Amino acid sequence: MKFFVDTADVAAIRELNDLGMVDGVTTNPSLILKSGRDIAEVTREICEIVSGPVSAEVVASDAEGMIAEGRHLAKIADNIAVKVPLTWDGLRACKVLSGEGRMVNVTLCFSPAQAILAAKAGASFISPFIGRLDDINLDGMELIAQIREIYDNYDWTTEILAASIRSVNHITDAARIGADVITAPPAVIKAMASHVLTDKGLDQFNADWAKTGQKIV
Ligand code: G3P
Repeated sequence: MKFFVDTADVAAIRELNDLGMVDGVTTNPSLILKSGRDIAEVTREICEIVSGPVSAEVVASDAEGMIAEGRHLAKIADNIAVKVPLTWDGLRACKVLSGEGRMVNVTLCFSPAQAILAAKAGASFISPFIGRLDDINLDGMELIAQIREIYDNYDWTTEILAASIRSVNHITDAARIGADVITAPPAVIKAMASHVLTDKGLDQFNADWAKTGQKIV
């Protein structure tokens, strides 16, 4: 399973990348807003840190506008994946941009039917949003399972990029189902290391060690 980081926070990306935890990055207009930075500038900086795919999202609503924006964003670096929304125009843009050899991430996917269309349009990645389905009392993880089953039926190579991840359980469940990639906020990736019994065990070891009066170095 590949790990993408869902952020435009360069310091957080650098920290995880130094640990070998970053296979790619995803951004979106909300994350660019949160960073407070210029999209081209921050995306270029991220691409200098991370060698894997870095998703940069278009904002036009018509296919021609998305294609123009996608071509422009793709000039930032060779590892840009142009992110387009799962609308009919987004699918048209996906077909054109993927036909030009660019990586395309089709985002805002909420149904298996949408995921089928993205694969047919040549998407490199399909981004089903787990958390936002859970938010409205639907089952985000079930969508990942449905897309996995369908893509495997036909050996489609579009990678399932599980997005809108809010918890450690989302990551482990997506891994069990066989999502190709997860993209998660840095805090959720870091939370994977935490366990109450690890903390408790460490406290006990430290207390016992202090009683030995020894030093290792
Ligand atoms: O990359 C987009 C997606 O991960 C957004 O997540 O938490 O805003 O639903 P969220």
